[in-house]
Amino acid sequence: SVIDLIVLDEVDSTNAEIVRRRRESGIGCIPVCIADCQTAGRGRRGRQWQSPWGQNLYLSLGLTFRGSFAMLDGLSLVLGVAVAEALEQQGVPDVGLKWPNDIFLGGSKLSGILVELQGELEEGVVQVVAGIGLNVHMKDGAGVDQSWSSLAMAVPERRWCRSDLAASVTSSVLDAVDEFAEQGFGGFRARWQNRDIFTGKPLVASQGELAGTGRGIDDSGNYLIATGEELVKVRAGEISLRVQ
Ligand code: BTN
Repeated sequence: SVIDLIVLDEVDSTNAEIVRRRRESGIGCIPVCIADCQTAGRGRRGRQWQSPWGQNLYLSLGLTFRGSFAMLDGLSLVLGVAVAEALEQQGVPDVGLKWPNDIFLGGSKLSGILVELQGELEEGVVQVVAGIGLNVHMKDGAGVDQSWSSLAMAVPERRWCRSDLAASVTSSVLDAVDEFAEQGFGGFRARWQNRDIFTGKPLVASQGELAGTGRGIDDSGNYLIATGEELVKVRAGEISLRVQ
């Protein structure tokens, strides 16, 4: 596939930029946007994503799928696997996934992924923006409301280069997305599950109304929680998990 690469010093959000630019990218072109900083970086659940200048990777891809919005829960997990595998190829050990798609290292968040629907291009063809924030040289966590990590903190012996990471993450994501479009979620279940940080751990879902033990994902990517007798299934997009 041909990539239409957009490299910016500053932008509100690389996800928003993809939405604005998509029309200019030719048919068959995949717009990919990278910025040195974001002034209004977006996180999941309406949160902000701290995006200080020059320290981290802020990358978005404009993807087009034949299918419906229903496939997007799976896509979200597929992207987590793709980023985790890219990081492992770059020599990062023990990369963990927190359902649905946060990337964790040693109990702290390293990378977050935001999948947004842009709309239906035509009947049966959906446009999606996949945004990836990856902490590389993050120095100051001011405004970050959870425990975070960076590649420079976790693997200090390596000189981390954002353009190498951008290339590696982009190619891993595009490969994974092709596989998902052709073969569905099946091949990703084990690859996701092997990295689950919650399997066997006590956890609470959502606003605390559901507590139990993590049991990993089913073959559609729903998360399973054992609560005494019952196995409860939670859908991506509905709920967030945290340690009990
Ligand atoms: C999360 O809440 O974990 C998702 C964070 C996603 C952040 C990335 S940074 C690049 C892209 N542009 C945005 O505005 N958000 C995503």
